[in-house]
Amino acid sequence: MSCPISTDVNRAAEMLKNGKLVAFATETVYGLGAYALNSLAVASIFEAKGRPTFDPLIVHVANTAQLEPLISNFPEQARQLAEQFWPGPLTLVLPKTDRVPDLVTANLATVAVRIPDHPQALELLSVAGIPIAAPSANRFGQVSPTTAGHVADQLGNEIDLILDGGPCRVGVESTVLQLCADGPRLLRHGGVPLEQLEAQIGPIQVTDLVEHPAAQSPAGPGMLKKHYAPSVLVKIVVDLQGFETEPNQHVGLLSFQQPSELVLAKFDRVEILSPTGDLREAAAKFFSALRKLDAESLDLIVATPFPEQGLGRALNDRLQRAAS
Ligand code: TXA
Ligand code: MG
Repeated sequence: MSCPISTDVNRAAEMLKNGKLVAFATETVYGLGAYALNSLAVASIFEAKGRPTFDPLIVHVANTAQLEPLISNFPEQARQLAEQFWPGPLTLVLPKTDRVPDLVTANLATVAVRIPDHPQALELLSVAGIPIAAPSANRFGQVSPTTAGHVADQLGNEIDLILDGGPCRVGVESTVLQLCADGPRLLRHGGVPLEQLEAQIGPIQVTDLVEHPAAQSPAGPGMLKKHYAPSVLVKIVVDLQGFETEPNQHVGLLSFQQPSELVLAKFDRVEILSPTGDLREAAAKFFSALRKLDAESLDLIVATPFPEQGLGRALNDRLQRAAS
């Protein structure tokens, strides 16, 4: 039996305080939330998602005052970025205090935190008055949810409530930036483009996609090479003109921009993310489009890459992992 879908923020807040699992909308994707300081509640997140416990979670708060018990140091660069980008799709990885359960941070000495830019999420966080640990509300390794319906499809039987906040505006997850002693390090491309962060704090080291499992890496699932993946094979194709499908093969196209009629004729199903080539529009539609194609019993999904700038970096990153 699937859990209720509701817009009742007070009910959701009450459930979270009582250790229940509540999925809620943020500006990026839907999160699967639990009270971050309640280890038992946090454990049920991992259970519901089928997520390995070596993958740390992001803790969501309503304001920077709520961070105080969670982090041992709020460096100047973090203050600057928080001022500029919060509420928003930026997650900061900072030194943690003992208050944060080890399960949340996978035993790391740091905790990932962010203030989401979604009115209902902010209301939920302030009404509950507690920090909420939340990964994206999908099964481990699968496509991230950008509507309440997506969450119900994958996790409806595993969780207690879905708080419906409409479709997510940004559509790709937050940018994850670590700010520790060894300088700023980008761990995941996301909703705040790298260029905008560097404009604020100068050069940032970017950690490349890792081949080995996250168990061996300092960071988590966002760094796994295969992630955000539909069940159908995904192939990235730069030259659609030159691409030929095989006889009897049913192929879908996930296209950034409007392709030519000649190209369109080669595919059984087509999803166009932004006819005019707007990266924001493309990001907002990306995961939904991937899901739609995945539901079409195709043999293959062909996808075109995005320009490697701004939100295009996050989109290329998700695409590469979906195609891994
Ligand atoms: O937009 C988002 O970030 C969404 C919404 C719900 O806020 N959340 C999300 O969570 O994408 P999740 O669990 O799917 O991704 C969290 C990312 C992972 O790549 C994880 O490795 C990284 O954050 N992370 C969390 N804690 C970390 C830590 N202490 N050190 C390094 N990376 C960390
Ligand atoms: Mg995720």
